[in-house]
Amino acid sequence: MAALILFGGGGDLAMRMLLPSLYFLEHDGLLPEGLKIIGAARSEETADEYIGKVQDAVKAKAEADKAWDEDSWARMKARLDYLAIDATSAESLKRLKAKVGDGEVTSFLAVSPSLYGRIVTAMKEAGLAERNCRIVLEKPVGRDLKSFLEIDDAVGHAFREDQVFRIDHYLGKETVQNLTALRFGNTIFEPLWNNLTIDHVQITIGETVGVGDRWPYYDEYGALRDMLQNHMLQLLCLVAMEPPSDLDPESLRNEKVKVLRSLRPITPEEAERVTVRGQYVAGVSEGKPAKSYEEERGQPSDTETFVAIRADIDNWRWAGVPFFMRTGKRLPEKRTEIVIQFKPVPHSIFDNDEGEAPANRMIIELQPEEDISLTVMNKRPGLDKRMQLQPITMSLSWGVDGKSAAPPRRRIAYERLLLDAMHGDSTLFVRRDEAEQAWKWVDEVADAWAESGQKPDQYVAGTWGPDTADMLMMRTGRDWNTTNV
Ligand code: BG6
Repeated sequence: MAALILFGGGGDLAMRMLLPSLYFLEHDGLLPEGLKIIGAARSEETADEYIGKVQDAVKAKAEADKAWDEDSWARMKARLDYLAIDATSAESLKRLKAKVGDGEVTSFLAVSPSLYGRIVTAMKEAGLAERNCRIVLEKPVGRDLKSFLEIDDAVGHAFREDQVFRIDHYLGKETVQNLTALRFGNTIFEPLWNNLTIDHVQITIGETVGVGDRWPYYDEYGALRDMLQNHMLQLLCLVAMEPPSDLDPESLRNEKVKVLRSLRPITPEEAERVTVRGQYVAGVSEGKPAKSYEEERGQPSDTETFVAIRADIDNWRWAGVPFFMRTGKRLPEKRTEIVIQFKPVPHSIFDNDEGEAPANRMIIELQPEEDISLTVMNKRPGLDKRMQLQPITMSLSWGVDGKSAAPPRRRIAYERLLLDAMHGDSTLFVRRDEAEQAWKWVDEVADAWAESGQKPDQYVAGTWGPDTADMLMMRTGRDWNTTNV
């Protein structure tokens, strides 16, 4: 019998993401046969009480997706169990071990990372770190390189690297995987994918939500550590990496590490020129009044809720091509996109009424829609004596024989990642040296801010960050993409 243990099984991540993901997998007949799912948490409740809560959480999500059916739920319910435990105590975990038996065990730690070290030590003692066991670690693992290494060393004492699955849920998103398909499943893009043709790259992760009740966590991390260290740098790696020799997890991750190693360190002297920190003040978000971060926090704070950075990758392919990244809370839109901005034509032969024709642009949109589009120039139809150009945008996603097909149900990123972890496939997980390199670069940014005394600039909730973020681009003669915004 195989088992999946959800540590923190009653918490926010489990109820909002993990258990609904497992339901959808059940619904589609994708869960391994005989798999048991065991919620493990401190709360003293019975399995029936726990299962009742799971049902409420899962049903709400499944109904919204028109995927609720009693049969699927009955099958999932039969797999579910609950055990009230202290996860840091080996004695407690031995009871869990007795429940799961000797089959394969995947343990998902959806608890505070400050407990990771003690939990893995207890797991080893309780026999939950044997060769047929795997561990999945939710981010953030650490707050800087030092704390990451401390936690990861403890994990390394209990588990071998091939048993450890560090999650970055962005890697489970369909369009993120599609980016790899697009780059390496076609011949037409790769020859252009370099500093000869590409002017710059923009990566935006905009969120409308504020920090709200999450401030005790967030205030310690800020946008740099919460989003840039992981999700944004992962996206940057997938855009910038060299073609791997195959899709073996090691081949792919080797290429990503090389990119991280090539990131130019940001020094205190230039921090102000290439980085922006922002913090929202009261404004209007999605039509409703929104509080300032400091009001939510209850006292003044220097934590950034917005960050924009110009990153340079010092290698042959990307020399001279800046990668601009920005992310923030309380922005006008929940929008995640990667913009590949190509260079303008070297010499224009057209006399366009609307001025110089815009250069080609590829937009890889992850949210709100999942789409990859390419803007190219076209002749405006008609008998005008002077040829006039117009941009047309082609969608490269979900197309079947030139017609757009209805996309399949949009999956929660965790569906893919839970399945992969249970199957032992670590391709879409973060290797130790990747996380290490990402922390190293992020630490340098944080140190540069500390040394230069750079504080967050204010922005009004519901806007695209402080003016300094626009200036970051304008200084280089560029601007942030506003298509679809
Ligand atoms: C999480 C961050 O990793 O990602 C959150 O901790 C953020 O602060 C979330 O809101 C965004 O994820 P998604 O998939 O909604 O873009």
